[in-house]
Amino acid sequence: MRVRHGQAGGCSNARYRQPIQPEVLETGSIMKAFIIDRYGKKVALRAADMPEPEVGKDDVLVQIHAAGVNPLDSKIRDGEFKLILPYRLPLILGNDFAGVVVRVGSGVQKFKPGDEVYARPDDNRIGAFAEFIAINADSLAIKPKDLSMEEAASIPLVGLTAWQALIEKANLKKGQKVLIHAGSGGVGSFAIQLAKHLGAFVATTTSTANVEWVKRLGADIVVDYSKNDFEKILRDYDVVLNSLDAKTLQKSLQVLKPGGKLISISGPPDVDYAKSAGLSWFLKTVMRLLSFGIRKKAKKYGVTYSFLFMRASGEQLLKLTFLINAGVIRPIVDRVFPFESTPDALAYVETGRTKGKVIVKLK
Ligand SMILES: NC(=O)c1ccc[n+]([C@@H]2O[C@H](COP(=O)([O-])OP(=O)(O)OC[C@H]3O[C@@H](n4cnc5c(N)ncnc54)[C@H](OP(=O)(O)O)[C@@H]3O)[C@@H](O)[C@H]2O)c1
Repeated sequence: MRVRHGQAGGCSNARYRQPIQPEVLETGSIMKAFIIDRYGKKVALRAADMPEPEVGKDDVLVQIHAAGVNPLDSKIRDGEFKLILPYRLPLILGNDFAGVVVRVGSGVQKFKPGDEVYARPDDNRIGAFAEFIAINADSLAIKPKDLSMEEAASIPLVGLTAWQALIEKANLKKGQKVLIHAGSGGVGSFAIQLAKHLGAFVATTTSTANVEWVKRLGADIVVDYSKNDFEKILRDYDVVLNSLDAKTLQKSLQVLKPGGKLISISGPPDVDYAKSAGLSWFLKTVMRLLSFGIRKKAKKYGVTYSFLFMRASGEQLLKLTFLINAGVIRPIVDRVFPFESTPDALAYVETGRTKGKVIVKLK
C-alpha cells in the first residue's frame, strides 16, 4: 500500500482526546482487503491487494480502523443474495465499519478529513474488510464520542436494523409488549436496549448460559429455549422481531395479540420488500410465493407479517449516536480479531453462538 502517513494514526483502542490524523491514500495506490472470487458455502475469504476505491462527487473516502462481522457476510459469500444484489466479483466483503475520513468528494459538505465516522454502506457498495472504503456521505455519521473504533464498528448494521424494525415498521410505543428473539445476538442485544428506551415491555429468548446476561441488558422476561417453549409462555404481544428459522417464525404467531405485528429479518422476503428494493416483476412474484404461507397464517391469527432488509442511513445512525452519547445504549463486543484473522472472525460468527458483535481491527 502506498500511503502518506499522518501523525498518531494507531490509537483505535483508546478513548482518544486528540483527533486522529488519517493516512492519505495516493491516487492509483492499492490496499489490502479480504475478498471472494466466487460464491459458495466452502469458498474461503482471501487476502488480496485491491485498487483504491473511486471517490465520487457525493462520496467520502474513509480509512477503516475497525469493521463489524455479520452473518450477512456469510450469506453473501454463500450466494444467497445473488439475485437481489448482483455484485461484481471479486468482491470485498464487510458490511459495517468505523474509521477516519481521508478525502471528500466535491459535493460533500457534512464531513471533512480527520472526522471520526461510522457507517453501514449502501448494500450495493459494501467492502468494509479493507483498508479504505468510498461511501455515499448520506450513509455516514459521526461516531459516538466515547466509543473506541472497535465499539463503534459494532453498531451500524445491527443498530439500524433494530431502529428500522422497532421504530419504522413496528412503531413500538411505551407500554407495548415486544418479543425479541435471540437476545444475546448482535441484533437482539441492541434491540433489547432500544425497546427498553422506547418504554416497551421486553421478552427475549436465549440459552441457559446467557439468561442473566440478557436480563442485565434490560429484558423483562427471558425464555431459556433449551428448557422451555416460548410460545407456551408468552401471550398477547404487540410485536415479535424474528431473526431465527421458519419454525420459530410460525410459532411466533401464537404469542401475538390480534392486530399484532410479526416482523422478520431472517425471511421469507415479501412483496413490499421487493417493491421497495425496485426488484423485477419476476422477483416480486417469487417473493409473493415465498411469503404466501406465513402471510396466510398471519391473516388467520388477525396479525400482520412483514419482512425487513435493513438499509443504510446516516440520518438514523446520527440518532443512534445521540442515544449512545447519552448512555442509553451501549455497544456489546464479544471478540476483536486482528485484520489478518478476518476469515477466523467470520468462522466464529458462523458458529451462531456469539454474544453481541464480532469485530476485526485494522488499526
Ligand atoms: N434482514 C436484515 O436486515 C438483517 C439485519 C441483521 C441481521 N439479519 C439476520 O438476522 C439473524 C441474526 O443476526 P445477528 O447478527 O443477531 O446474529 P448473531 O449475532 O450471529 O446471533 C447469535 C446469537 O443467536 C442466538 N441464538 C441462536 N439460536 C437461537 C435460538 N434458537 N433461540 C434464541 N437465540 C438463539 C445465540 O444465543 P445462544 O448461544 O444462547 O444460542 C447467539 O447469541 C441472521 O440471520 C442475520 O443474517 C438480518
